[in-house]
Amino acid sequence: MRPRFIQIIFIVFLVGFLTSSCSQMTGGVKVGFLIPASVGYRWPIDQQYVEKIAADRKIEVITRSAENDENLQLKQAEELLKMGVDVLIVVAANANTAAAIVREAHDYNVPVIAYDRLIKNADLDYLVTFEGAEIGNLMVNYALKVKPEGNYVLLWGDAGDVNALMIKEAQEATLKPSIDNGRIKIVYKSFTEDWSSDNAYHTMKNILDFSGEKIDAVITSYDGLAMGARKAIDEAGLDYDVILTGQDAEIAAVRAINQGKMSMTVYKSINTIAAASVDLAIKLAKNQKVTGVTATIDNGRKEVPTMMLKPVAVTKDNIREVLIADKFFTEEQVYGSN
Ligand code: GAL
Repeated sequence: MRPRFIQIIFIVFLVGFLTSSCSQMTGGVKVGFLIPASVGYRWPIDQQYVEKIAADRKIEVITRSAENDENLQLKQAEELLKMGVDVLIVVAANANTAAAIVREAHDYNVPVIAYDRLIKNADLDYLVTFEGAEIGNLMVNYALKVKPEGNYVLLWGDAGDVNALMIKEAQEATLKPSIDNGRIKIVYKSFTEDWSSDNAYHTMKNILDFSGEKIDAVITSYDGLAMGARKAIDEAGLDYDVILTGQDAEIAAVRAINQGKMSMTVYKSINTIAAASVDLAIKLAKNQKVTGVTATIDNGRKEVPTMMLKPVAVTKDNIREVLIADKFFTEEQVYGSN
């Protein structure tokens, strides 16, 4: 019996030691990161940045992807809360239903940071995002400068995402004078479910098959939509240049810009939003004073303290100075042969 007893004592000590050294390693902070989708979207890159920055800060992050399913995202939130996360960072799969995640988290006394996408009608703690109206305006102002007259198509993102709505509102307001004086005609405009590239392809294909008008600009709100539209344009074999915009500076889009198959994208530094969110999470977990709040955004329930970041327009002329200088891509990734 005696050796067995000693064995048990040893194991108890070992477990205690490992747990304490592990929590020293992670500063004891555990953060949950919920992303809305993975394959075909930017969010796995956000995951990489968040996890790398968290590792640098010696804290633990647990990530789950909801594959555009808001019910799954709520379940994932519950799972992470049960695992004892101190803070939840959420990219909402649906701005309108994610309030349930905030309620659930608050039941566990866990604060919620909305990452990039606002969560509506919720007692949300913080938002870290980019200026939505500015994103829409960068796209439209680019198009108006190159083609101040002509036929425009507007393809926005998912209507359940406040970012898509903010872009839409800003674009319509900026285009209004040109529409009113007849210089710009909007041939077609619509939201695109799940920001899906395939949906954008089918929409663009229908426009080209049925409208019969020359299209001067396709203002899409996201690179995936732009790639879908590009595919339809290529298949239609148009023999003229079409302005094509996007957002996110995805590698396929940046290479397309370099090859003249797309006009511009909007870069929102993932490194910046990831670092700001992780640092904020650490402060909230440790009950430290929060700095860096630059705005508030009304989410229907409250004025949410917000860290507002700056988006940047990227064209063929500034790929190096913006994306490569920021180490988002290497020369080889953008200009290499593969
Ligand atoms: C938005 C985000 C964009 C884009 C889009 C599709 O919420 O602001 O940058 O990634 O989702 O994933």
